[in-house]
Amino acid sequence: MIGIFDSGVGGMTVARAVEQALPEHGLIYFGDLARTPYGSKSPETISNYARQNTQFLIEQGAKLIIIACNTAASIASDTLRREFNLPIFEVITPAVAKAVATSKSGRIGVIGTRATINSNIYEEKIRHLAAKVKVFSQPCPLLAPLVEEGWLNKRETKMILRRYLSPLKQQQVDTLVLGCTHYPLLKELIQPRIGKRTKVIDSSHEVAAELKAFLAENPALASQLSPEKEKRYYVSDLTEATLATANLIFGRTIELSKVTI
Ligand code: DGL
Repeated sequence: MIGIFDSGVGGMTVARAVEQALPEHGLIYFGDLARTPYGSKSPETISNYARQNTQFLIEQGAKLIIIACNTAASIASDTLRREFNLPIFEVITPAVAKAVATSKSGRIGVIGTRATINSNIYEEKIRHLAAKVKVFSQPCPLLAPLVEEGWLNKRETKMILRRYLSPLKQQQVDTLVLGCTHYPLLKELIQPRIGKRTKVIDSSHEVAAELKAFLAENPALASQLSPEKEKRYYVSDLTEATLATANLIFGRTIELSKVTI
């Protein structure tokens, strides 16, 4: 099974992309709704949660992990790779590669949770690939909770987005990285507010493509993922709003099972 986790429903955008790219493999998802949002918590807490989520997915049969949460990836990828002996993918590295390949002006904007932006990970990874690129980062702490609430097309959400995006628009970024897996659900609102000429990078497709290429090169591991084609979705808390947002993301009725980890 492919194990995927996020703090909530946002990582389902990654699960959906993985389902589309690799329909033949089993997939198990964990959304930590009881403890969401991660983005305003301390690095120690985020690392602990990431560790517990990974352990849970492994116990459920995951043979590889995708950290479908930029916040957990920015803080805990190295720790998880040190502590767990299985391949660990995350959403930041492939999004950075795509952003650097996409930007023509060398002015890249990044939006994410406070923890992700404070970690400086995007700036470091972008500079590592392209030293001259200018990175403009904007923490957007209100967006993930709005998505969790299903406020995907509300006037208030549009106002908040305008406020967050306006400094990046002023900096004339030609590429904008959605540095939080909740944000693809707001893409239709983000694109007109950042400007139609700015390319918006959604990491879900990038990480799914990276995983597909990796499995093609590692058939032994791929065969361990294959036997169970089922998809299982777990959450640590379940509300009507969560269910509605999950169904919207997948465009079908999703069965969410509540677990305590
Ligand atoms: N979806 C998460 C991310 O990609 C985190 C949102 C949150 O829990 O604050 O950063």
